Amino acid sequence: MPSSSPPAIKVENLVKTYGEVEAVRGVSFTVARGEVFGFLGPNGAGKSTTINMLCTLARPSSGTARVSGFDVSRERDDVRRHIGLVFQDQTLDGYLTAAQNLRLHAELYGIDPGVVPARMRQMLEMVDLWDRRDQTVATFSGGMRRRLEIARGLLHSPRVLFLDEPTIGLDPQTRSSIWRYIRALQETEGTTIFMTTHYMDEAEFCDRIAIMDRGEIVVLDTPAELKASVGADRVVLGTADDDAALRALRDRFGIEATVAEGAVTFHVESGEAFVPRLFAELNVPITSVAVSRPTLDDVFMRYTGSTIRDAESGGGSDLNRATMRVLSGARR
Ligand SMILES: Nc1ncnc2c1ncn2[C@@H]1O[C@H](COP(=O)(O)OP(=O)(O)OP(=O)(O)O)[C@@H](O)[C@H]1O
Ligand SMILES: [Mg+2]
Repeated sequence: MPSSSPPAIKVENLVKTYGEVEAVRGVSFTVARGEVFGFLGPNGAGKSTTINMLCTLARPSSGTARVSGFDVSRERDDVRRHIGLVFQDQTLDGYLTAAQNLRLHAELYGIDPGVVPARMRQMLEMVDLWDRRDQTVATFSGGMRRRLEIARGLLHSPRVLFLDEPTIGLDPQTRSSIWRYIRALQETEGTTIFMTTHYMDEAEFCDRIAIMDRGEIVVLDTPAELKASVGADRVVLGTADDDAALRALRDRFGIEATVAEGAVTFHVESGEAFVPRLFAELNVPITSVAVSRPTLDDVFMRYTGSTIRDAESGGGSDLNRATMRVLSGARR
């Protein structure tokens, strides 16, 4: 048994190289028990490689990691028994029914047969698939499969659940219900959640976030602290002449703006107060203006030098964001 109360995950100077490629370059962090911990970063940052080492699916080149108190290199079987995995590539058996998939998993994990039926029902009800338990998975939609994978990943009551992009490509209802399960799990079973995502609205749900870039963790903090660290408001301007606007902003206001996604973008301390001055003094016709408080997108941009959309094409829609905001409001 693990000693009294080790952290859920403890990583020290973890390195993974593939030939010339340094996929992970010495990362260190600790995840507390019961924490929802998010990993963000552009494509190729090393997120999946890190998660794979923590799950014992890839061997570290150097450094150490302990999950639920067990060493991922020397105590792989112990680690495996205490974790659940939900990965992007689905691994359900399409010829089997939902219930058969879960039973197979229960056998693989050696779950006490006496508790399997009740636990199966609990998990299938949680993901709203109890009524579908006897249908073959081949007839399931993408969202239903994902929900079933989550139910399966939780069947053996893991101490730590690893989710690599759990909600990619799902509709807003499914994404928000998956978030509800995750929160419920954290509350009822004290499960630690370690996840990667490209969706900033989902990152908001995490207790803490690490942003990874080129194999290194560039920043690690709570969503609120990260947003506060970016500080200033973001102003996005549509103009008749973006180059002239960039020059005018630099010359008249001393502001270095950039053109991102077809609009002039810059940061100032108090956006609302600044906009009237712009209209009066910019001398370049302005066609639209938007002012926003810092978001995790801004944090991502600040620390990795690119927007999440540049890093990954499937960014969340406004509808998704609205849904997530409602949910996160409900949480507070
Ligand atoms: N099995 C492998 N063999 C060789 N190189 C690999 C292997 N797995 C990952 N890499 C390389 O390691 C780097 C990090 O990849 P990784 O999959 O960890 O990124 P990621 O942050 O998960 O990206 P994404 O957001 O696209 O999923 C990349 O340069 C990738 O090409
Ligand atoms: Mg990945």
